[in-house]
Amino acid sequence: MNNFASKIIPTQRSSALRQLLAMRKDLVGNLQSLEKIHGPIWRIALGRGSMISMLGPDALEFVWKNRDGAFSSASGWYPYIGRVFPGAIMAMDGEAHRYQRRIMQVAFKKPALQTYLRQMNAAIAVGIEAWMPGLPSAGEGGAERRMFPLLKQLTLDLAASVFMGVELGRSAKSLNRAFMATVAASMAIIRVPVIGLAMWRGIRGRRLLLQRFRELLPLKRAIHSSDFFSEFCHARSEQGESFNDEEIIDHMIFLMMAAHDTTTSTLTTMMYLLARHPEWQDRLRAKALALGKSQLEYDDLEQLQELSWTLREALRLAPPLTSMPRMCTKTTSFQGYEIPAGTMVGVYPIHVHYSPSLWSDPNRFDPERFSPERQEDKRHGYAWVPFGGGAHMCIGQHFATLQVKAIMHQLLLRYRWSIAKGYVMPYQWVPISKPKDGLSVTLTRRTDG
Ligand code: HEM
Repeated sequence: MNNFASKIIPTQRSSALRQLLAMRKDLVGNLQSLEKIHGPIWRIALGRGSMISMLGPDALEFVWKNRDGAFSSASGWYPYIGRVFPGAIMAMDGEAHRYQRRIMQVAFKKPALQTYLRQMNAAIAVGIEAWMPGLPSAGEGGAERRMFPLLKQLTLDLAASVFMGVELGRSAKSLNRAFMATVAASMAIIRVPVIGLAMWRGIRGRRLLLQRFRELLPLKRAIHSSDFFSEFCHARSEQGESFNDEEIIDHMIFLMMAAHDTTTSTLTTMMYLLARHPEWQDRLRAKALALGKSQLEYDDLEQLQELSWTLREALRLAPPLTSMPRMCTKTTSFQGYEIPAGTMVGVYPIHVHYSPSLWSDPNRFDPERFSPERQEDKRHGYAWVPFGGGAHMCIGQHFATLQVKAIMHQLLLRYRWSIAKGYVMPYQWVPISKPKDGLSVTLTRRTDG
């Protein structure tokens, strides 16, 4: 035991299942109440071992930077995604992880991103136009639409073209179902594949995905096209390393999941917030119109400042990944507390995003907090962390930003949207933040210029 680890970690007496259920209801409220009782760190019994929850930006920095190599992402994530996403880069550690990341990074360089954006723009236009088919002309009243499923379909279609380089056509539904089943399996309470239950459906979903990617692989190897799949087939790190077939397929399956659910979540939150705050919807639309382009180009991104702030504020209020697991594999100490080897550790970006010591009026939607004059996100290096930190920090951060902005730009130009008076979107916070009710909005085509 470490001689500078002298403080006792308080124990939360309720069962882990009870805590999980309470957190599903009101994640931030629950974390804040537990913080009031125990302070920034507590443990809870979990099977034969225990799980330690750590709060605050310093805890995030400590766990993510992982200076003494005590925290394992592989063992942290494996219980959740190991069966349905084996080979996922997020569940790797040390040199194995660095090796995969060096090669993967090649597909995220600026020229590749510029090409992806060009490809996405046309598909976005077609996708969002189909949300209100057959309306004779602009402005003839609105129509009610459930946004979450529509945005999910749109991001899946974009993933198919930008990631796989194919049109999904009739296989879109089965592929979407397969992805949803694999993600749901990652949070299944019953972890064995009992027929009909979530884990069983997830494993079947994975089988379908494997089959689809294996069919496409020879073509992607043969021709270097501008999609992630092909980029992965041809990527060489600076050291000359490359992926084998199995690695490519595992990365593709994980990447499509990591990309499509998180951006759907972000877009849904943005649409909700902009419906609740129509003055911001108008402000962003005015900027989009002033740009004078129906589709965003890479170099326009810098100019749309208010859109950037709004995206950041949406990710603050509802980060798609609200918590992250790690396994402590080597006894370590944090601020005088001993974290023993063999303990699961949970950290919570969403808790930091609502911290009154970091953000002014944290429950308020206030995109200007990110403006150069206020820069509330700069109050701590780990104050705004929707993309994580350390070695596993999201590799798709720039791609995600690009995609969300490209979609929002076209949405603002084409439609107005509103929600029923007094409506508050009910969130489900795990495994990925999303509305429990799909978010119904009234969508109206724009007529005003
Ligand atoms: C708004 C959208 C997104 C959010 C909020 C987000 C968030 C995150 C977070 C928090 C992590 C770190 C997990 C951990 O440390 O345990 C992560 C990792 C990752 N994300 Fe994202 N992500 C987003 C979009 C994307 C996109 C679009 C892609 C791919 C195109 C992507 C690919 C990945 C990958 C591959 C990892 C694992 C990286 C590694 O382990 O080295 N993400 N993401």
